[in-house]
Amino acid sequence: MNSDPGKHILCIGAGYVGGPTMAVIADKCPEYTVTIVDINEQRIEQWQSDSLPIYEPGLNEVVERTRDRNLFFSTDIENAIRAADIIFVSVNTPTKTFGEGAGKAADLQYWEKTARTIARIADSNKVVVEKSTLPLRTARAMERILEANKKGLHFDVLSNPEFLAEGTAINDLNDPDRVLIGSRQTERGLKARQALVDIFAHWVPTEKIITSNVWSAELSKLTANAFLAQRISSINSISALCEKSEADIEEVAAAIGKDRRIGSRFLKASVGFGGSCFKKDILNLVYICEHYGLNEVARYWESVVNLNEFQHRRFVQTMLKTMFNTIAGKRIALFGFAFKADTGDTRESPAIYIARKLVDEHAQVIVTDPEALANAKRDLRDISYAIEFADDPYKAAQDAHAIAVVTEWSEYTALDYQKIFETMQHPAFIFDGRNILDHKALHKIGFNVFPIGKPALKYF
Ligand code: NAD
Ligand code: UGA
Repeated sequence: MNSDPGKHILCIGAGYVGGPTMAVIADKCPEYTVTIVDINEQRIEQWQSDSLPIYEPGLNEVVERTRDRNLFFSTDIENAIRAADIIFVSVNTPTKTFGEGAGKAADLQYWEKTARTIARIADSNKVVVEKSTLPLRTARAMERILEANKKGLHFDVLSNPEFLAEGTAINDLNDPDRVLIGSRQTERGLKARQALVDIFAHWVPTEKIITSNVWSAELSKLTANAFLAQRISSINSISALCEKSEADIEEVAAAIGKDRRIGSRFLKASVGFGGSCFKKDILNLVYICEHYGLNEVARYWESVVNLNEFQHRRFVQTMLKTMFNTIAGKRIALFGFAFKADTGDTRESPAIYIARKLVDEHAQVIVTDPEALANAKRDLRDISYAIEFADDPYKAAQDAHAIAVVTEWSEYTALDYQKIFETMQHPAFIFDGRNILDHKALHKIGFNVFPIGKPALKYF
């Protein structure tokens, strides 16, 4: 192990953020020793094995280069805290499901436990970095817990929110749009901030490392996710109007995206956004606004989530209506279960809602996905009697009355749909919840095709 003073980094939480983020830091900063700890023993064992706990393009290569060189995984949280100079906290911060603020506020129990463990175990001063996405002013609560130590130790709390997206995490970390570091504007705070700047400066151009006060950094993370989700709800709201009016959402998105003030990215109409963060972070923002009595602001952001749920609902309603108002006993193949392509993550995936609604209507659902079947099985455990799983999309579609594309995996664009059509029940339907397929070609084969925000191509 490296013993240079100041060069021991610890990350508490070996998840989708902690794992990739620390692997890239270890890769770029060979003179630092980076340790990742977690309470979940199985997760740590997987990080130590050839079969990593998360699927992320490019991650295996980075871990292979760094593991046991200057990147270590462990469940020995206490010793790792003692050895660390800089501690990143990257534990989960889900929406609270109980008590005050249930359904909106962030559940800070994992995060609080971590702060208390650091305060109890540390025997030297530390820089503590909020990597998790947290409610505004959480750093103050972290400081209070840490300051309550009776050992005369000093902890500097920084906010360094993570902006990576799953499926592109390694690229996002290697070439970020920006790295944001919020600190206290005191002499100590600025020194701690510099320690973190020094790490990122190994590979991130200095003009992309931006600094702010702690509260701005915390709020910027929630705001970035709220703005991104708002774009998706905006385009999805217009997709509903397109379906009523023969306008085409892709033509509309292309036209407005040419305006440089609007920009062309993140304007892909879909079955709705999923993922562990957009909904949770917006609801967190809504809760904070309500706390400060800003009810109009709260309602504004809440509508982004409401519209997303409307989009999920609309998709299933279209399926039901189109298939003669009954899908009882019909076989419906879901192409994709992950919340987006290039990940196995299914947290808050629209597929969960869709599968459950279809089963409520007594359909038999066949799920296929190249990376997410294990998570899908867990998510649908309680309705397993009505669900089948198939690795092979051709098998999933066999004897099916309909296919619903839920995840935009590129392999679904390259399938032989003539062959698929021949094995399906007729009339055969395709509901393209991602607008990734060649709709005209499918229609020519004989499918009734229902895209998002475009005129349907049908035979009746
Ligand atoms: P995750 O659930 O994948 O990982 C969190 C890990 O923390 C889990 O393995 C859990 O066992 C561990 N943990 C919980 N309490 C612990 C404790 N007391 N000690 C040690 N380990 C503990 O979550 P994630 O997706 O990595 O997200 C982590 C944070 O980062 C969240 O706040 C999230 O909002 C934010 N974030 C996530 C993403 C993303 O793409 N997933 C992107 C940016 C920010
Ligand atoms: C998002 C943000 O993009 C990251 O910057 C942020 O760090 C992260 O949340 C987080 O805080 O967790 P992520 O959820 O991994 O990243 O993936 P996105 O690419 O943002 O996609 C989110 C959802 O929106 C997916 O379901 C995706 O399919 C959907 N989406 C995205 C659309 O429906 N249309 C689009 O145009 C873009």
